[in-house]
Amino acid sequence: MAKSHVLVVDDEELYRRSLARILSRVGHQVTEARDGTEALSLLADGGIDLVLADIRMPGINGLELVRQIHEIDPDLPCIVVTGFSSAESSVEALRAGAYWYLEKPFDQSHLDVVRRLVEQAIEHGRLKAENRALQSELRTKYRFENIIGHSGALRGVLDTVAKVAGTDSTVLITGESGTGKELIARAIHYNSRRVERRLVTVNCGAIPEELLESELFGHVKGAFTNAVASREGRFSLANGGTIFLDEIGDMSPNLQVKLLRVLQERTFEPVGSSKSETVNVRVLAATNQQLEAAIADGRFREDLYYRLNVIPIEVPPLRQRSEDIPLLAQHFLDVMNQERGTKIDSISDRAIAALCRYDWPGNVRELENLMERLTVLRGDGEIDLDDLPDAVRDARKTFAATPADDNDLDFRDVVNRFQADLIREALEQSGGNKKEAAENLGLRRTTLLEKIKKLGI
Ligand SMILES: Nc1ncnc2c1ncn2[C@@H]1O[C@H](COP(=O)(O)OP(=O)(O)OP(=O)(O)O)[C@@H](O)[C@H]1O
Ligand SMILES: [Mg+2]
Repeated sequence: MAKSHVLVVDDEELYRRSLARILSRVGHQVTEARDGTEALSLLADGGIDLVLADIRMPGINGLELVRQIHEIDPDLPCIVVTGFSSAESSVEALRAGAYWYLEKPFDQSHLDVVRRLVEQAIEHGRLKAENRALQSELRTKYRFENIIGHSGALRGVLDTVAKVAGTDSTVLITGESGTGKELIARAIHYNSRRVERRLVTVNCGAIPEELLESELFGHVKGAFTNAVASREGRFSLANGGTIFLDEIGDMSPNLQVKLLRVLQERTFEPVGSSKSETVNVRVLAATNQQLEAAIADGRFREDLYYRLNVIPIEVPPLRQRSEDIPLLAQHFLDVMNQERGTKIDSISDRAIAALCRYDWPGNVRELENLMERLTVLRGDGEIDLDDLPDAVRDARKTFAATPADDNDLDFRDVVNRFQADLIREALEQSGGNKKEAAENLGLRRTTLLEKIKKLGI
């Protein structure tokens, strides 16, 4: 074990010295403090693994010191040194948050006891700190700041996420494949009160129907041929936490009925059992299907849809938020560089412009995969137009008037042409009715008239 650093706090020099000597003898680095105030200021410098404090000191006493220390660092273990086997003060010490207590007086004969106690306390503190770090790593990973993008569309989504995370409402996340639905679901769970409990994910599309029911609700022994033992389902596993039903649109009608009941009553029966189980689970669901169309086709139950769609979150496709593309590309580049030790320092403006023009049928996942491929293939330097796959490099936004050569790209020119196209289309749709066209475009009528004149439509 690496040498640990112990802070000994006692106003009585004799005791302080003898304790310090014992601790150095068993291999620890020791610092001494004469009172609580000095202890706190030494602690502020960091590096202390354990505090041993006398219970009786002028000024801040040992119990108060433990409380103050834990306000600053709840994981730092403290041992309180109590006088003359007073049962009362040992209880008080534990109540104040001390790891344990040590009775005065002690001499060399106590060496072993002190050594073991000190080592245990330090190990306990380490585990606590480690655990906390892990928890917060999970939380940071799904912190909103790690959902990249500054487009209005994505900000709208994140606003809703922030509002609903703290509630127990059912959320239905829709969007094309690869738009970030699972990322959103995780962000909701990891920013909710249920964060200490589990997030259980079920991919309803990937599991065959016969198995899905037992997967969701569990089964009892002998429920079907292979059920040699009973098994808990995912709803039970998620009790107290969150269940994420991914690809909900692929669920069979038979199971849709059973799911509806869980959503209504939070009750279900494991396969082969007649005994109901009740759970407290928050439900998140996602699909890349158009559920309204599935309802019209009779593939999805309307009543289930309404139960799920309490809070709808629609994640827009990447092509509708191309402002996010440069940020995302840079983000994935940074991640890959770090993970793979590559040294790509940038993406050229021309390459970025091409990435923004492409329409990304596979959405963010496609961009992520492309950036991974590019980093590996190039290794270092700058990613340029020639590095991009043909389909991306040659992409043209659908509006007619894009100049043929990227170097001639004049921003205002392109915007004007784009606006003119949009206005023509709106006028066509409204049969020439300018008031209606303005409404459809979200413009004031006078603004539209000005633009028509300026753009020479
Ligand atoms: N805004 C974002 N910022 C950072 N990474 C993102 C963002 N959106 C998506 N990603 C990443 O893109 C990948 C695809 O996201 P995710 O798996 O959440 O999509 P999905 O909508 O669930 O896709 P599918 O419908 O195919 O299951 C993941 O690696 C995810 O981390
Ligand atoms: Mg997904």
